[in-house]
Amino acid sequence: MTAAVTEILDARTPVTYVWSYEPSRDDLRSLYDKAKQEQWDGRTLLPWHHEVDPEAENLPDAYIPIYDSPIWRKLSARNVREVRQHQYSWMMSQFLHGEQGALLGTSQLVVTMPLTDARFFAATQVIDEARHVEVFERYLREKLKLTYAPSRHLRALLDQILTDSRWDVKLLGMQILVEGLALASFRMIHNFTCEPLAKDLLHNVMRDEARHVAFGVRALEAFYADGVNERELRERQEFTYEACRLMRDRFLSEDVWQNLGLPMAECLELSLHSPAMIEFRRLLFARIVPNVKRLGLLTPWLRERFDELGILQYEALPADG
Ligand SMILES: [Fe+2]
Ligand SMILES: [Fe+2]
Repeated sequence: MTAAVTEILDARTPVTYVWSYEPSRDDLRSLYDKAKQEQWDGRTLLPWHHEVDPEAENLPDAYIPIYDSPIWRKLSARNVREVRQHQYSWMMSQFLHGEQGALLGTSQLVVTMPLTDARFFAATQVIDEARHVEVFERYLREKLKLTYAPSRHLRALLDQILTDSRWDVKLLGMQILVEGLALASFRMIHNFTCEPLAKDLLHNVMRDEARHVAFGVRALEAFYADGVNERELRERQEFTYEACRLMRDRFLSEDVWQNLGLPMAECLELSLHSPAMIEFRRLLFARIVPNVKRLGLLTPWLRERFDELGILQYEALPADG
């Protein structure tokens, strides 16, 4: 049976009229201007003529979580090529689905954010995210010839963000946490891939994503400084903590191991402690933790929990925005 092509999520997003149109936040307005200047066309800009062998070592094998383990050493040359294709496609597919989540989430921001400058920027982000969906889909279909479904953990995170009716939680979830996750993963692949099309694609997508994170940081910083009470702040901290826990421990390519018939428990254990995952966590939390701090969310309650997760060490690094 093939999976349904469409699915309906019951997400109630309040629609906000804003009757004041003049600029009131210069920083957000200039991000909007920058976004207009930096538009690009993935169809004409990227070198699609490059041939990609989906089973080649497009990412160094050392970045495959089970590399150099007893499981890996038993694989035939044929199986190694298969694992490469599946692992790389799984990662790129998660980006594709994350980009769809960002497209949907940002369109919700356009209708619900109570500030004209912010929704102008969000409108530019909608087209950015459509472009990202377009280029990842094409890369997977034409070059890797294999697309994975979203992992259940990514799906759960996206569902939570899209069904929450509070605009700031969408912004926090989408722009700070999911985009933080995306940027860390993009950066890792961009740094280590020798495949020129993917490198170029990620380079251009990352420039857009950096703008999106900067927007999230600036819009939320002001709101959390005086727009929420203590109970509301705690709810945001709990949400942040849960999302960080999920991102630290759950993005372990389990669908790949299952598909290839490899021993699940061992593969998950290897994934959790693999050099790839350690590098990914470092890039991820070096980005997210300083941003969470800048938003004023890193009070003793959350510090204690970040310390337990082993990610508090990143708090002194510079934030985005
Ligand atoms: Fe994106
Ligand atoms: Fe984005």
